[in-house]
Amino acid sequence: MQVLVVLCVLFLSAAIARADDPILIRFSHVTSEATPKGHGAELFKKLAEERLGGKVRVEVYPRSLKFNDDQALLALLFGDIELAAPSFSKFRSYSRQMQVFDLPFLFSDVDAVHRFQAGEAGRQLLDSMVPLGIKGLAYWDNGMRVMSANRPLRVPEDADGLRFRIEPSAVMQVQYRALGVATVPMPFGQVREGLKMGLVGGQENAWSNIYSKGFHDFQKYFTEARHSFLGYMLVTNAEFWSGLPPEVRGELEKIVREVTVEVNRIAGEKAQSDRQRVIESKKAEVITLSDTELEAWRAVLKPVWSAFEPQIGREIIEQAQRANLSP
Ligand code: LMR
Repeated sequence: MQVLVVLCVLFLSAAIARADDPILIRFSHVTSEATPKGHGAELFKKLAEERLGGKVRVEVYPRSLKFNDDQALLALLFGDIELAAPSFSKFRSYSRQMQVFDLPFLFSDVDAVHRFQAGEAGRQLLDSMVPLGIKGLAYWDNGMRVMSANRPLRVPEDADGLRFRIEPSAVMQVQYRALGVATVPMPFGQVREGLKMGLVGGQENAWSNIYSKGFHDFQKYFTEARHSFLGYMLVTNAEFWSGLPPEVRGELEKIVREVTVEVNRIAGEKAQSDRQRVIESKKAEVITLSDTELEAWRAVLKPVWSAFEPQIGREIIEQAQRANLSP
């Protein structure tokens, strides 16, 4: 009898300890700490643990240490992590509409992307994957993508015959096909090695990723066509989020809003400073295009939209186009 009482006491105290345990939030991502997303993940951890002391514990796994992006989305659904921030291209299997962000030359600049995200379609996309279990919490910036190769790309014909690493994006596949470029979808964590080994001869990415991963060690020319924007959706497991105690969820949502402002500020800065660092490394040359050259890229790449309009929906594309007009 005494043994039974002792066991009951032990069991109850273990159960009480579990109820008191902080809620664990595991945030897995693929970039280095020195990127907008890397800073965002660390800031989220700092603010959440400071303000929800004892109630929440955040573990951040950067640089694909835990998962690449495709794996992270599955892990999120299986409850193995609670937060991820994959680039828009990685959501294609969950929402065809998300492909709008990849359409070449759709958004004229970062402000236009922000206007679209704040508008009806942008807000609706955050919730578009909830029926599948993925909830969008915010949009985070990186920057405009830059194309690179070991030969200068000034006009579309210059790319003909190259082989590019792409994100697993159907839009990018069609885009590069239009340029006569073979594509190799590859997780971000393998790109540096892919360039080094010559598995691919080119790629496109934002400056902070290029600099933090040292892609310029293996790529001589970077072309700024401003054809596409690299951004992220910060996502969580929908069931996990709705099951949080309301006061914890409310505070975390406030923190996400604050972190988003900071991520986007850092993104704007890094788009300039990491570009400058690549130039100063003297390992690579940055090519800025004349209006005529830009027009040639637009002429080849804009027709790609029509192949994706049935999947994305004309209305969403039109809202994105309207976002280009200043308010
Ligand atoms: C890539 O796969 O190139 C990027 O989306 C990586 C990232 O998260 O910025």
